[in-house]
Amino acid sequence: MANPIGIFDSGIGGTSIWREIKKLLPHEDTIYLADSANAPYGAKTKEEILQLSIKNTELLLQKNCKLIVVACNTATTNAIDYLRANYDVPFIGIEPAIKPAALHTQTKKVGVLATKGTLSSTLFNSTSKMFAQGITVLEQEGIGLVELIEEGKMLAEETRRLLKKYLDPMLEQRIDCLVLGCTHYPYLIPLIKELVPQGVTVIDSGEAVAKQTGAVLEENNLKEAPKNWTGHWFYSNTRNNILSVLVSGPSVYVEYLDF
Ligand code: SIN
Repeated sequence: MANPIGIFDSGIGGTSIWREIKKLLPHEDTIYLADSANAPYGAKTKEEILQLSIKNTELLLQKNCKLIVVACNTATTNAIDYLRANYDVPFIGIEPAIKPAALHTQTKKVGVLATKGTLSSTLFNSTSKMFAQGITVLEQEGIGLVELIEEGKMLAEETRRLLKKYLDPMLEQRIDCLVLGCTHYPYLIPLIKELVPQGVTVIDSGEAVAKQTGAVLEENNLKEAPKNWTGHWFYSNTRNNILSVLVSGPSVYVEYLDF
């Protein structure tokens, strides 16, 4: 195996990012850490999120990862500056896609669904200030959604009810762009599409992150040359069947690891 790309998240949500990376960079090996035992990160303190991010990073570095994707908005907004300053590999973070939403909105009203940890972070607030001048950004905490997704209840009636409770007030304010500010939330897109009118654009960061990963690999001469075989290893610290279902495919290995 060549040096892999490392990816970590508080659980299974970052697999939405992994999928885009695999599509765009088909010759890259990947190692994914699903820290489901500590999910959700969104309600933890900054210090707790930082310590978990350090633990995940060090494990990925032990596994010789050449670049690390912090596939969790909450960990990005609270820990990426520290990680970049203290480790030698490049880090790619996930920030809520405020900029594309601000460019796209006609009503000048954008909704952001994210965790408390993301919405209260300095990085989120400075991004909003920088890119959303003249735009009203309506923020909504998605309390409880990560837990439901970790349980595999992406299409359940209770998930639908909770989502409706969070989306309706933003829709009443006439948002026409909804930013999914948590890597777990793309798994709710089928339900979200049922709950929002057609004119509302749903934006997530997956494709942009994959492109950025490719560009940073290129810049650092880390890109893998075409090869015949590419492997993808997933480690979860809970015995989570949902992860195996979400990522199943050729050359994909899912294992339990106590980390
Ligand atoms: C969480 O663990 O609370 C959500 C992860 C994210 O913000 O992407």
